[in-house]
Amino acid sequence: MKYGYFDDSRREYVITTPKTPYPWINYLGMEGFFSLISNTAGGYTFYKDARLRRITRYRYNNVPIDMGGRYLYIKDGDTVWNPGWSPCKTKLDFYECRHGMGYTVITGKKDGVSAEVTYFVPVGYDGEVQQLVLSNEGSETKSLKLFSLVEWCLWDAQDDCTNFQRNFSTGRVELEGSTIYHKTEYRDRRNHYAFFTVNAPIDGFDTDRDTFIGLYNGFGDPQVVEAGKPGNSVADGWSPIASHYNEITLAPGESTTLIFILGYAENPYDQKFEADGVSINKVKAHAMIDAYNTPEKVAAGLAALRAEWDRLLGIISVKTPDDRVDRMVNIWNQYQCMVTFNLSRSASYFESGIGRGMGFRDSNQDILGFVHQIPDRARERLIDLASTQLPDGGCYHQYQPLTKKGNSDIGGDFSDDPLWMILSVAAYIKETGDWSILDEPVPYDNDPDTAQSMLQHLVVSFYHVVNNLGPHGLPLAMRADWNDCINLSCYSDKPGESFQTYTNPKFKAEGGYSKTAESVMVAALFTYVGPSFVGILKHLGKDDEAKRAQEAIDAMKATVMKFGFDGEWFLRAYDATGAKMGSAECAEGKIFIEPQGFAVMSEIGKEVGADIKALDSVDRYLNTKYGLVLNNPAFSKYYIQYGEISTYPGGYKENAGIFTHNNAWIICAEAYAGRGDKAFEYYSKIAPAFNEEISELHKTEPYVYGQMIAGKDAGRFGEGKNSWLSGTAAWNMVAISQYILGIQPDFDGLTINPSIPKAWDGFVVTRKFRGGNYTVKVSNPKHISQGVASMIVDGKPVEGNRVPVLGAGDHVIEVVMG
Ligand code: BGC
Ligand code: NOJ
Repeated sequence: MKYGYFDDSRREYVITTPKTPYPWINYLGMEGFFSLISNTAGGYTFYKDARLRRITRYRYNNVPIDMGGRYLYIKDGDTVWNPGWSPCKTKLDFYECRHGMGYTVITGKKDGVSAEVTYFVPVGYDGEVQQLVLSNEGSETKSLKLFSLVEWCLWDAQDDCTNFQRNFSTGRVELEGSTIYHKTEYRDRRNHYAFFTVNAPIDGFDTDRDTFIGLYNGFGDPQVVEAGKPGNSVADGWSPIASHYNEITLAPGESTTLIFILGYAENPYDQKFEADGVSINKVKAHAMIDAYNTPEKVAAGLAALRAEWDRLLGIISVKTPDDRVDRMVNIWNQYQCMVTFNLSRSASYFESGIGRGMGFRDSNQDILGFVHQIPDRARERLIDLASTQLPDGGCYHQYQPLTKKGNSDIGGDFSDDPLWMILSVAAYIKETGDWSILDEPVPYDNDPDTAQSMLQHLVVSFYHVVNNLGPHGLPLAMRADWNDCINLSCYSDKPGESFQTYTNPKFKAEGGYSKTAESVMVAALFTYVGPSFVGILKHLGKDDEAKRAQEAIDAMKATVMKFGFDGEWFLRAYDATGAKMGSAECAEGKIFIEPQGFAVMSEIGKEVGADIKALDSVDRYLNTKYGLVLNNPAFSKYYIQYGEISTYPGGYKENAGIFTHNNAWIICAEAYAGRGDKAFEYYSKIAPAFNEEISELHKTEPYVYGQMIAGKDAGRFGEGKNSWLSGTAAWNMVAISQYILGIQPDFDGLTINPSIPKAWDGFVVTRKFRGGNYTVKVSNPKHISQGVASMIVDGKPVEGNRVPVLGAGDHVIEVVMG
C-alpha cells in the first residue's frame, strides 16, 4: 500500500495522508542551521550540533508519536485545525505534504480555507523560513484567528531533558514588535540567541508555555487557542515558547501571505547587548528578518535553493531502463548522501541528537557517497576527522560537531576506524585529483604541536592494523569492528554495563580488549582498502613504501585463506577464547555477511574459487525476499562471549536483521564478480523506491534508506527502522554508480566496468569529472552482464576500459559491452 507518490519532475515525494505508518520526515538546511520536519510539521531545529545547540524542543518516543514542531493553529468559528492535521487532528478536507530537496510544503484545507505552508532553510542562512499562504476558497467572508507555536529548547538538549530543578528557573525571552527572542542564559555565558518572527503586526502573543497550552492540555488543545484569545504572556523562569496571534479576515477568493522566520544568531562577546546592557544586540536578527520578509524574497530564496540542487544533482545523473533506479540515483539517494554527510548519525527520528556526534567510521564512509557533490566540504571533513586521530593510528570513535574534539566518553580502540579514512581520502583524491590534501598538516588529538601530513595519518592508519595482529596473524577485533554489537572483549554479565565502552574491566589487564579475539572482517577490509594506499604511495614515487604495504596486504590475504576461510565462506572472527565465530561448526551465527564482500573484492582465494563459494553461500543462507540478513542462524540466546549482538531478538538489528549498509558490500562484490543480475536483485530488494508499494509493512519513508529491515526470524519480517542516517546511503550510491553501472573514478581517470542485468539494452551516465562533462553511453547488444568489447572516446577508439582525465569541455564515451 502507498501513502503518496513520487513526483520526479519536481523531485518531490508527495504524501497524501497525514497518517503515514510512521512520521515521514525531511531535512532542511545544509551547513549551519538544520531542521527535521515531519509530514505533519513535527520535528525540531538546531545549529550545527543537535546536542549542544538545540533551538527547539522535541520529545522523543512520545505518545502520541511526533508531538512538538512548528505549528500553526487556525481557528475558524469553533473549529481549530492545523494545515498538517496534527496536533489538533481535526479532519481536513484536503491534505498534502511535498517533501523536496531542502524544502517541505504542507497544504491543508478545511471549510473553504486553504493553508499552504512552505518550509525551507535558505542557502547560507541560519534560519527556517515558513511561508503561509492562507486563502479563502469559499463563498463567504472568513474571520480567522491564527496562532503560531514553537517551543524553545534550553540549548543543551541533554540538560534540557534531565535537569529540571534548574531549567524551570532559567527561561528568558525578549519581545520587539512581532519578534520573540529566546535568550535563556544569554545574559551569562552564552553569546547566541534565537528568534521567531512574522512579517506583519501581531494582535497578541504568548511566550509562556503554561499560559498558552495549559498544564493539563496538550499540543492538540492549547487553552489559549480554544479560548480564541492570546494570553500575552511573558515567560519568566518557566518554559519559554514563541507564539504569534493574528486576526485575519478574508473575503471570498482573497489570499494573504505571512512569513514566519525561526532564526539563530551569535554575537561577539563584547557586542552582546544594546546600550542598556540588558537587551540583546539584534543587528543580526534584523538583517536576517529583512532578508526574507516579502513573498518575492522568499520566492528568490526558494529559487536559489532549487538552483543549488540542480547543480548538485547535475553532477552525476543516469538514464537506465528502470525508472526506479533513475529516481534513486538522480534524486533521493544523492539527497540522502548529503544528509548523512551533514549529520552523520546524530539527529533523526531514531537518533536523539544527544548520544552521537560525528562518527569516525560513519563520516568517513559518508564521504564515499558525497564527495562528488561538494569536494571542498569533504576535504574539510577529512581534516576534521583526521584531527581526532591518535598518533598510533587509533582514533576517537566520535567527535562533537560544535567543538570538533574527540569524545572521550566513548574513546577509541575500534579496530576498523582507521581503515575507513584511507578509503575516504583515496575517494576524495580519485574524484578531485587534489593530491595536495596529502601534504596538509593535520594534528593528532587536536593538538597543533603534533601535526603531521595527512599522508602520515594514512600511514599510521594502515599500520595500526599491521601492528595489532592476534595469534593467527589476523587483526585484533579490539572493542568492536564495524559491527558495534560484536563485543568480543566485553563478557558483560550485569545489566546496564556498556557493551562498547570500558565500564566493564574484564580485559583491563590486557589494556582494555582481548589480545586473542581477531576480526576476519577487518582483515578483508584491510585487503580491500590497502590497494588504494599502495596506489597513493606509488603515485608519490614512494616505491619502497608501496612495496612494503603490498607485502602486508599479500600476507594478510594468505592469512585469511589459511585461518579465515571456512570452506564455503569466510569466517567472521575468533572470539576471546580463540573459538571460531561465523563458522559451520558454530551452533548459531554460522555465517556472517560482513567479511564476504570485501574478501571477494580483494580476490582472496579467487584462484581456488573462494569468491564464488562465498557469494553463493551468502545467497543460500542469507538471502530473503526483503534483502540479505546479517547472520544466520540468528542467535536465539545470549552468548556472553559475543556481546550485544545476541541481545537483540532474532531478526532485529545486528542479530540477523537485514542491515542494508552491508547488503551494499555484497551488491558491489556480486557486480565485481560479474554477476550483474544478482547484484541488481540485491540492489532492488532494499532500494526504497522499489519498496514503495509495501509502505504499510516497511513503515519508514519510501524515499530514503533505513539502517535496518527486520529479517526473516523477526515477528515483523520486512518492517523498516532507523531511516535516514545510515552508511547505507553512501554505500548504495557507490554500489549502483560505481559497481553496477561501473563508472569508477580512479587516480588517473575513469574506469568503465559495468556489471548489469543481462536484460538491459544499455544505459547512459552523465558525470562531471575534474572539470569536464562526460557522457558515457553504454550499449549491451549481446545481453551480457560484464565486459567491455570496445570503447570510443571523443570519436576515437581506445584500447581497454580506462578513460584518462580529458580536461574541460564535453566528452562522449561510447561503450559497447561484449
Ligand atoms: C546499535 C548499533 C550502533 C551502536 C552505536 C548499537 O546499540 O545496535 O547499530 O552502531 O549501538 O553505539
Ligand atoms: C550503526 C553505526 O552507526 C555504525 O557505525 C555501525 O557500523 C553499524 N551500526 C553496525 O553496528
